[in-house]
Amino acid sequence: MSKIIVTAALPYSYSIPHLGNFVGSVLPADVYHKYLVMGGEDAIFICGSDQHGTPIEIRAMERHQKPEDFANEMHLKIKSVFERYDCTFTYYGKTHTDQNKEVVYEIFDALQKNGYIVETHSTQAYCNIDKRFLIDRFIEGTCPFCKSDHARGDQCDNCGRLLTPSEIINPKCKICSKSDISFKGTKNLAIKLDSLEPKISEFIELNSRNNWPKAAKNKSQSYIKEGLKPRDITRNMDWGFKVPLEKFHDSVFYVWFDAVIGYIGITKEWDGRKWKSYWTHKDTKLVQFMGKDNIEFHTLMWPGILIGANLGFVLPTTIKSAEYLTSNSEKFSKSRGIGLDLEKCLGILPSDYWRFALMYVYPETSDSEFSIDLLREIVNNIMNDKVGNLIQRVLKLSIANKGLVKKIRIQNEYREAHDKIVAKYKDDFSNFRLREALHSLVELATLGNTIISERKPWESTKKASSDGEVANELSDIFGTLLAISYEIGIMIWPFCPNASENILKHFNVSDTPSLKMLSMEVSVNLEDEPKQLFTKMTDSQIAGLQK
Ligand code: 2FM
Ligand code: ZN
Repeated sequence: MSKIIVTAALPYSYSIPHLGNFVGSVLPADVYHKYLVMGGEDAIFICGSDQHGTPIEIRAMERHQKPEDFANEMHLKIKSVFERYDCTFTYYGKTHTDQNKEVVYEIFDALQKNGYIVETHSTQAYCNIDKRFLIDRFIEGTCPFCKSDHARGDQCDNCGRLLTPSEIINPKCKICSKSDISFKGTKNLAIKLDSLEPKISEFIELNSRNNWPKAAKNKSQSYIKEGLKPRDITRNMDWGFKVPLEKFHDSVFYVWFDAVIGYIGITKEWDGRKWKSYWTHKDTKLVQFMGKDNIEFHTLMWPGILIGANLGFVLPTTIKSAEYLTSNSEKFSKSRGIGLDLEKCLGILPSDYWRFALMYVYPETSDSEFSIDLLREIVNNIMNDKVGNLIQRVLKLSIANKGLVKKIRIQNEYREAHDKIVAKYKDDFSNFRLREALHSLVELATLGNTIISERKPWESTKKASSDGEVANELSDIFGTLLAISYEIGIMIWPFCPNASENILKHFNVSDTPSLKMLSMEVSVNLEDEPKQLFTKMTDSQIAGLQK
């Protein structure tokens, strides 16, 4: 059996992620990994805190804390929020660890030996007031490409382009907000992406066939077309892993260098023995979830690092990038204060509701608008009316007509429609159409609802006591409806693990659901009254979100 590593982009550990971050990487990665677990795959789910970089240094500075203390404090908070959203990581680690440092140094050494590291000399922004180099996010201004005013020294959030501080129009220092900036000479180390370009290009050509979204493929190809340039992997600052060369004693590795390597480092932190068997097995599939602003790092720089080091680590098989979740057409963004933070959301609705609603609008192929109205529509009309009510009605009807409940299986009449939906659900997952998989699940509930409203089983239950044919027919209908309810209990697990548990306990199942269980004989417990699976949103919940 081949091994699968599922990763979600490592969140910066400086603030609690918002809905947009969550739906972009950690949530779909968790859903996908849960599906793999249901299929019995040897799959690990790796994520963790991205602890280096200037934003963390800035926030730590504002709080008069050491960057390391601040980053570790936030790491624990973020980890616990994800856990409260029922994300089940194989390991949620962090990048500022000895294990990651070892891998970073090993890879850097190899890159150097293989001739892919070059010294670069550049002028860098320097704040004359704060007397320090203004790296990456320490400098802000207008993006030379899309003219957004929120461009930072390393990247524009709006168009996703990577930037260097000298390109920024009207630059300002983030520490003192002044523009008393000069450019001073400095040296760095860069990875020669130009020399690696043919191999990176070949990698994109081959691996993008594995279900990469159009955005991931097109963006990567267009960067290749423009031609790759050497890219700095060091920074003149203190917070980070020190560059292990005397000449660069005042520099650390660039946050993105040790962040992508962090996927390996975190796996090593998880298990000092097993990590290698995953990362160096020739058949390992590496499936990486991220927002579209992370594409370039994962399809150019990261494979460049891995190919250049040539240490036998696997390259990304599938890059699963997401588009943006928008609110009034603006991207949910932590740094710009749009969007709800995950902790607050959980105070208003339980995890299953968010997991379902967010996956229902997962911006898989294009930006997706999200609003409180839409949330209410999904919760009330889909979760409650279509899915929850179906399960409750079917169980209640079955309890009221215990004598008519015989074999739990799909009646011939509905088999074709049913099989098609279940096959589509599996096919959706196999082809990384995660939102579609959830929609397929809802289709199964719709089939159940149609059967109920067309066949109206309650109308003939009395007649069944004296008419054997009617009794058989009703048993078939109950069997079909119970089978559908049971299957929903299994298929909903990656999305709503708590609802799944609540459904499956009526079918005497307490183990983690598996796809195999879809074709197994099952019994139903008709003693316990079913509780409502989901409830409609109340006015006070809506008001809480509007605040
Ligand atoms: O954009 C971000 O939030 C980055 N911290 C993602 C890093 S992904 C990986 F490289 F670690
Ligand atoms: Zn300044």
